[in-house]
Amino acid sequence: MDEITALAKRRGFIFPSSEIYGGISGAWDYGPLGVELKRNVREAWWRDIVALRDDVVGVETAILMSPEVWRASGHLEHFFDLMVDCRSCKKRFRADQVTGPRCPACGNPTLTEPRSFNMMFKTYIGAMEDATSVAYLRPETAQGIFTDFKLVYQTARRKPPFGIAQIGKAFRNEITPGNFIFRSREFEQMELEYFVRPQPREEGRRWFDYWVEERYAWFLRLGIQSERLRRRAYSGDELAHYSQATTDIEYDFPFGWAELEGIAHRGTFDLEQHVRGSGKDLSFFDEETKEKYLPAVIEPSLGVDRACLVFLLDAYEREADRTVLHLHPRLAPIKVAVFPLVRNKPEIVELAVTVERGLRPHVRTAFDDSGNVGKRYYRQDEVGTPLCVTVDYDSLTNQDVTVRDRDTKQQVRVSIDRLPSYVRDRLDQA
Ligand code: GAP
Repeated sequence: MDEITALAKRRGFIFPSSEIYGGISGAWDYGPLGVELKRNVREAWWRDIVALRDDVVGVETAILMSPEVWRASGHLEHFFDLMVDCRSCKKRFRADQVTGPRCPACGNPTLTEPRSFNMMFKTYIGAMEDATSVAYLRPETAQGIFTDFKLVYQTARRKPPFGIAQIGKAFRNEITPGNFIFRSREFEQMELEYFVRPQPREEGRRWFDYWVEERYAWFLRLGIQSERLRRRAYSGDELAHYSQATTDIEYDFPFGWAELEGIAHRGTFDLEQHVRGSGKDLSFFDEETKEKYLPAVIEPSLGVDRACLVFLLDAYEREADRTVLHLHPRLAPIKVAVFPLVRNKPEIVELAVTVERGLRPHVRTAFDDSGNVGKRYYRQDEVGTPLCVTVDYDSLTNQDVTVRDRDTKQQVRVSIDRLPSYVRDRLDQA
């Protein structure tokens, strides 16, 4: 984890937020390469969940919502972590992270009894800071989907089974953020609420199983090593009171197996709560069958940052002479780096610039003419660039270039006019 955190900072993936002021716990900034990785992760999710399907539509709902939403959803009453304080060193811990009577930090037996602590960030809307103006930063994106359920199915003309997807920021005042971007206070979620008929019950169960498998397969398709990924079904007493089934997709992090994504069968709980809270009828009316019902919902929910962490950890390899990120090409921040073999031969530099510009409309590129070619390969391997293209003396006469593969280090000559289609084919094959 330390190596990945150091690489992420050194190469411009991820930095602590406001670091020049000593940072702030639980918030992170994405640098030039990190922002590309994050966009690619979102894009890979959106493509497979929304764009390539005909049963899912997307939304982008507001972070600030009526506080009534959080009353109805149960977050005001139940979104608590139990915490304990140490009376000696004043540190605060999540109760489930403390095993004995002693403080994990200072070792004194001076811990308080567990107390509950609401994890929602509270703020005020408008000029008055009083009870009437209280609002919360959303702790999950899902509730915006539930409150808009009716508007979406009517305007998009959908009927169950269908889903509504959203990617956006969420905020939780975690007591112990940590493990780099694994647990933050400001983070991003990619959530799908997939609405199905509540009866027969097997239908919901079938869709739940479908989404567990689909989400598991998604990580494998994007290159995650299968021995580091597992599905863990919750036992009955672990389930939230409204949940009929929950399975976590877990990853073998450096600190142990932990949740990467959760898939929950939430039954009709959320829509029922909002019907009760708002007094509005949110049921679905099927014009064909004349049936009217509140759909049940299956929810795969994944943190963008947590996914980025897993893709980085899983891709990371230290070989004898280099460090490589074996990122799936779809996720790699830069797809192709172009080098002129030497800097002091203007024709070569010019041709390299032309080659790089020619690739830009097709894929994300980089140009590097500093140091020797070995160093340039090293720099690109370390950030996961799948292909490096070198323009050399022969390129001037033959109009071709050397293309080198990140993982195998194999090199082939490719003619410049075929380069865009060659690159596209190579990246698509992965
Ligand atoms: N709507 C359901 C929901 O929010 P969750 O298990 O609390 O469920 C879903 O969160 C996913 O969001 C988690 O599996 C994780 O990937 C991500 N996540 C949750 N809390 C996080 C945090 N503090 N920092 C980073 N990611 C977080």
